[in-house]
Amino acid sequence: MSYNTFGHLFRVTTWGESHGPAIGCVIDGCPPRVALEEADIQPWLDRRRPGQSKFTTQRQEADRVEILSGVFEGHTTGTPISLVIRNTDQRSRDYGDIATRYRPGHADVAYDMKYGIRDYRGGGRSSARETAMRVAAGAVARKVLGDRISIRGALVQVGPHAVDRARMDWEMVNANPLFCPDMAMLPVWEDYLADVRKKGSSTGAVIEVVAEGVPPGLGAPIYGKLDSDLAMALMSINAVKGVEIGDGFASACLTGEENADPMRMENGMLQFASNHAGGVLGGISTGQPIVARFAVKPTSSILTPVPSVTRDGENVDVMTKGRHDPCVGIRAVPVGEAMMACVLADHLLRHRGQVGNQEPVVL
Ligand SMILES: Cc1cc2nc3c(=O)[nH]c(=O)nc-3n(C[C@H](O)[C@H](O)[C@H](O)COP(=O)(O)O)c2cc1C
Repeated sequence: MSYNTFGHLFRVTTWGESHGPAIGCVIDGCPPRVALEEADIQPWLDRRRPGQSKFTTQRQEADRVEILSGVFEGHTTGTPISLVIRNTDQRSRDYGDIATRYRPGHADVAYDMKYGIRDYRGGGRSSARETAMRVAAGAVARKVLGDRISIRGALVQVGPHAVDRARMDWEMVNANPLFCPDMAMLPVWEDYLADVRKKGSSTGAVIEVVAEGVPPGLGAPIYGKLDSDLAMALMSINAVKGVEIGDGFASACLTGEENADPMRMENGMLQFASNHAGGVLGGISTGQPIVARFAVKPTSSILTPVPSVTRDGENVDVMTKGRHDPCVGIRAVPVGEAMMACVLADHLLRHRGQVGNQEPVVL
């Protein structure tokens, strides 16, 4: 199984399985002399950690990150940074009864048809446990990007319940375990999720990730566009079924006048009157906020039996017991932020590699 690496200059490789002894990543290409210690990474992992609310899986993983290489006396050395998290809650017996059955909506059947071997322990490599290492790599990417670039994510829809954008308050996102930016919507989501959980069911969600302070010029036409790399990165997250940049699919309903982001020079600075484009034109960042959204499908593991088959071709009904989130979209928020951070760090280095540290020409 190859293709465990993404990025060109800021290259992230993840390894490990849900129920192996550990998971890890190697970040190759991180510039030297970036201040980095475990305490820079751990808080981001804590945001993704399971078991933090009744609406996320009760799997209890400490997710303690260790830096194994690439850092000396608190600074990156320019050599590969290796990070590891030991798995401490790998109760394989929870998964024993699905050893020969394919769980609907999971990668079981597709992996087995392709590779002919099945690690049934919690989905093995297909498990979203792998996304912990994306979050760790994203923390390193944030250090490369520096304080002038901020990346934040929020849950903006749970099932049919979307936030009211007029009420969106980013300050509230980290003040509640659902990463909800709309305090009037929070109790609606809590009631809805409680009901979904009680029924042993699940629901989908939409996550928005916004990067501010991104300089103009990141992204390289034609096949290294910033938006296409972002779409790839976000789509690669488990359970993601749709990605939008800027107005995304809604732009199909707009007229050219509505969709244009008018420009003016104000006090010698280029200003856009709107941001339907989501901060990217021609695959290149414009200096506007980069706005991406992604849709996450409902958690596949549900308590209702669903028709499926066994490895031996027998028809069965599969009900997935174990510890699962009624809405995996909640824990996908820090993962989406991390993927945005990794893509931007990679493009920042690629941009410097091609044009150096020059200031943009017109702005
Ligand atoms: C943070 C996170 C946690 C997840 N946890 C679960 C889970 O507990 N149960 C489940 O059925 N799916 C979970 N998923 C989704 C599965 O990993 C995913 O649906 C499965 O691997 C099949 O891949 P696909 O949906 O991308 O096709 C999670 C996804 C994310 C992003």
